[in-house]
Amino acid sequence: MKFFIDTANLDEIAEAQALGVLDGVTTNPSLMAKEGITGEENIINHYKKICEIVEGDVSAEVISTDFDGMVKEGEALAALNSQIVVKLPLIADGIKACKYFSDKGIKTNVTLVFSAGQALLAAKAGATYVSPFLGRLDDISTDGLNLIAEIRQIYDNYGFGTQILAASIRHTMHVIDCAKLGSDVMTGPLKSITGLLKHPLTDIGLAKFLEDYKKGNS
Ligand code: E4P
Repeated sequence: MKFFIDTANLDEIAEAQALGVLDGVTTNPSLMAKEGITGEENIINHYKKICEIVEGDVSAEVISTDFDGMVKEGEALAALNSQIVVKLPLIADGIKACKYFSDKGIKTNVTLVFSAGQALLAAKAGATYVSPFLGRLDDISTDGLNLIAEIRQIYDNYGFGTQILAASIRHTMHVIDCAKLGSDVMTGPLKSITGLLKHPLTDIGLAKFLEDYKKGNS
């Protein structure tokens, strides 16, 4: 399972990268705005900085909602770095743009996916990644994990190569449950990755080992 971090915060990306388990980054317009990154030039420069920190794929989302605009924006983003994945919304023009980019060998991430039917369309259009929003479904009392399971079954039935990128991850149990269901990738905040480190028995065990070492070597 690949681990992506879902942030535009450079310090958090660097911390996850330093841990040695990071496979990529996903961003969206809200995450960029949260870091105060505004204006085309600053946004472009920020993507370049992210690509310098991380070794894997970096999803950069288009703002346009029409085919021509998405193609123009996506081509400019893809030209920045081979790590860039063009992130497109699951609307009709987004699916058309996905097909256009996949035919050209440019990586895509189809985002804002909330149903198995939408995920099927993204795969048919040749998406590299499909992003079902697990947490946002859970937020409205709908079973987000069930969507991951449905997409896994459909993609396996037909051998689609599109990777399931479980998005809108809120906590460590989402990560574990997605891994059990065979999600190819997860993207979440730093705490959903570092939280996997924690177990009280690890801390207690380590303290005891160090205490016993001290006793024997003092
Ligand atoms: C996916 O790529 C999105 O950036 C993200 O996972 C959305 O998460 P949220 O629901 O926590 O905003």
